[in-house]
Amino acid sequence: MKAFSVLGTLIHAPVLGELEILPAALVEVDGSGDISAVHRSNSESHANLTAQARQEDALIELSDSQYLLPGMIDLHIHAPQWPQMGGALHLPLYDWLQQCTFPLEAKYADLEFADKVYSSLVETLIANGTTTALYFATIHLEPSKRLAEICVAKGQRGLVGKVAMDNPAECPDFYRDASTEQGLDDTRALINYIREMPGNESARVLPVVTPRFIPSCTDEMLKGLGEIAKETNCHVQTHCSESDWEHNYVIERHGTEDTNSLNNFGLLGNKTVLAHSNFISEADMQLIKQQGSGIAHCPLSNYYFSNAVFPARKALDQGLDVGLGTDISGGPNPSLLHNCNVAVTSSRALEEGVNPELPAEERGVPGSRINFKEAFWMATSGGGRALDLKIGQISEGYAMDAMVVDTAVSDSNLITWDESDDLENVLQKILYNADRNNITKVWVQGEQIK
Ligand code: GUN
Ligand code: FE
Repeated sequence: MKAFSVLGTLIHAPVLGELEILPAALVEVDGSGDISAVHRSNSESHANLTAQARQEDALIELSDSQYLLPGMIDLHIHAPQWPQMGGALHLPLYDWLQQCTFPLEAKYADLEFADKVYSSLVETLIANGTTTALYFATIHLEPSKRLAEICVAKGQRGLVGKVAMDNPAECPDFYRDASTEQGLDDTRALINYIREMPGNESARVLPVVTPRFIPSCTDEMLKGLGEIAKETNCHVQTHCSESDWEHNYVIERHGTEDTNSLNNFGLLGNKTVLAHSNFISEADMQLIKQQGSGIAHCPLSNYYFSNAVFPARKALDQGLDVGLGTDISGGPNPSLLHNCNVAVTSSRALEEGVNPELPAEERGVPGSRINFKEAFWMATSGGGRALDLKIGQISEGYAMDAMVVDTAVSDSNLITWDESDDLENVLQKILYNADRNNITKVWVQGEQIK
């Protein structure tokens, strides 16, 4: 790849709760797609380096209405549920899984169907500025490989897991690993395949050990996956303390909560991402922090399936690595920007409470709100930290995973006013009202994929 530079207004959030806004910054990207330097407009070398890049025909110059932002990191998404997005939202989690989701996921035994759906999904996510996605695939090995191949072909940074589920008491006959052993073997096979996949020499696509959640796995499976994660130093993902039903199921079966139980099976490490985690205790938060694991907050999905709002404020205050997930199709929207907005909104609902029949002082949980800067941090830096990857910021040493948001495209609900909007407001408006039309360029590892 040819080295290049981008000149324009950069907005990112390297520090929780703060925005760094650099007008006319010069971002230098090296031949391997990493950011080699960020020069502020008033720095000594800025003018020379800009002139030089221009002369070498290696300068991308943004207009006044264009902003350079880090790419969005979707920290929890179910690729096979894409055809179901926007539907099947009428049932509680257990019934939704058994009646809608497992029958749909079983169809991915058909590789052609998988190919069609996964191509459509990856394209749509890229169009929405999602540069990295942490994917649950299905129980099927070959179709899971196909998802990884599609990420490579389309250039998205993808972390892909073959879903493990072998517990006959909780998984239907038509959608379950043939045996514990088969589930473990296929998990290993996918890890090896992705690590050696043609076109993936730079490891843009990574394998993930993926127990669906404790209910769907036998103890043998959980133990075996913990061992594989350790041996292979792989990422791990699962659902944790998501709903009342699921949380209580684990307490009944293991005599302890999800976090502790997962840790007992060797599944909590610094490359582990726990989806949801709505019902985690303070002790769980401490354990998650101690193990360096991350949390995928899925605010929109939680409204439908979790019976509660994730205590994002508390988790962030404890210093946990919290990112944002769409949880498609539990969450019916593919945009991380939209999920930033819902993260803020749901934290306000938690703070104020929602039952008008209660007196104000009994209605909510005071001090629960997060703001748009914190939501933006979660969708970018927080996700990068949770994954232990150098992504989520436009800083030296990070991968050039970024997007351009243009506030001046026609046919858009994003309208800014020079007279009254400072750059912080512009970002807030982007989070609330930008859509895929406004996202005019997307890079992953310096490669322009939109
Ligand atoms: N728990 C186990 N599987 C799932 C799933 O597919 N979606 C959600 N939201 N929760 C789950
Ligand atoms: Fe999920």
